[in-house]
Amino acid sequence: YVIGIDIGTSAVKTILVNEQGEVCGEVSKSYPLIQEKAGYNEQNPEDWVRQTIQALAELVSICQVQVNNIEGISYSGQMHGLVLLDQNQCVLRNAILWNDTRTTSQCRNIEEVFGEQLLEITKNRVLEGFTLPKILWVKEHEPEIFEKAALFLLPKDYVRFRMTGTINSEFSDAAGTLLLHVTRKKWDYDICKRFDIPTEICPPLVESHDCVGTLLPNIAEETGLSKKTKVFAGGADNACGAIGAGILSSGKTLCSIGTSGVILSYEEDKERDFKGKVHFFNHGKKDAFYTMGVTLAAGYSLNWFKETFSQNETFEQLLHGVESVPIGSNGLLYTPYLVGERTPHADSLIRGSFIGMDGSHKKENFVRAVMEGITFSLHESIKLFRKEGKTVDTIISIGGGAKNEIWLQMQADIFKAKVIKLESEQGPAMGAAMLATFGSGWFDSLEQCAEEFIRETSTFYPKESNVERYEALFNIYEEVYFKTKDLN
Ligand code: XUL
Repeated sequence: YVIGIDIGTSAVKTILVNEQGEVCGEVSKSYPLIQEKAGYNEQNPEDWVRQTIQALAELVSICQVQVNNIEGISYSGQMHGLVLLDQNQCVLRNAILWNDTRTTSQCRNIEEVFGEQLLEITKNRVLEGFTLPKILWVKEHEPEIFEKAALFLLPKDYVRFRMTGTINSEFSDAAGTLLLHVTRKKWDYDICKRFDIPTEICPPLVESHDCVGTLLPNIAEETGLSKKTKVFAGGADNACGAIGAGILSSGKTLCSIGTSGVILSYEEDKERDFKGKVHFFNHGKKDAFYTMGVTLAAGYSLNWFKETFSQNETFEQLLHGVESVPIGSNGLLYTPYLVGERTPHADSLIRGSFIGMDGSHKKENFVRAVMEGITFSLHESIKLFRKEGKTVDTIISIGGGAKNEIWLQMQADIFKAKVIKLESEQGPAMGAAMLATFGSGWFDSLEQCAEEFIRETSTFYPKESNVERYEALFNIYEEVYFKTKDLN
């Protein structure tokens, strides 16, 4: 057996996977978002650690397997989040997350200092969500904390450190910091130096499938796992989602709807230049890359709607009834810009909208409009990919969007592509588990593991009449950004 852990934004998910790639047990534990001001999104790293240990302890007790047979553990995690540690490796402040948009002025400053040169090194544009602007925000606004900072870690790297005592990061997550030379796979210390950031704060880098240690005795005791269990570095949640969905060669595209939503496509050619229009990161597969477009508030939009208007319902109850609402939600259109947007509009200030409300609209009209709006936003990334010459005709759907058949059909109709559902929609945690199997030597390659582990269960094809109706609505959707941009 192996265990995959995904440190998500709303919860940690842990899964136990056997040699056939079957999920034998899963336990999730949630933790809160701390939103002190508009645009602020933080979490307490201690919550991740506590809930991960708790989830693992429950997983071990419900699965009733011999813990000595659990050979490896690996991690997936929300990207970009800044965890700052002092020289005693104590956390200095709450983690500032990927969906926190307080850093616009730091982003402009980075651009002024570096111009286009940064894009050549990091392959990405400067965006509020990335780690470097967060470090500079702390330096500017909390100098007393910055002075004590001896090390920064990304979310899953911090949890892994607490479980093993070893400090590492790996390329797929480091790529989202704006401090990594993405194609050379090295920290670019010149960037640190230009901003007076001590270079020692960057953690040592390893490959995603590298073994970085074993469990600390106290963690073994608290979780019930063996202290001999090997721990593998793991990867960014999107890189792990790609592995878990078998996006390991050109031609397949991933649609993942978690708190954020992403459209991701494998990229072999590291010299390919998208001029920063899409993200370009290191894959969890050695020396490979991927391109990605991001909708900041995908699952978050539905969660926000549920928490605000329908708190006592489960997601299943919330989505109940959307099948009876026609395409276009009877004239209701939603744009999902609750925390700004990344792709195709890198705009931290834009905010969302419901347009076309009618006195006859019921809750299910709003829920369907939210689902359609999220999918339209993801389609903007697909449109961009296609414009850049990428073929997008087969899409593997994972996460929340893959749990509901209406949503899967909606994706096929809006994306104008074949959409595939897998047996397990647990992409990131499964990808982490697969890294542990590869690291443990069960397979010669991740591809071989994918062949054994990943099973497609159903395929959704675009329906011509739906495609036309969605196309007309999408054209209106695209306009809304430009018409509402000056509202705030
Ligand atoms: C990717 C991004 C998000 C987080 C969510 O750039 O910011 O997808 O990784 O977990």
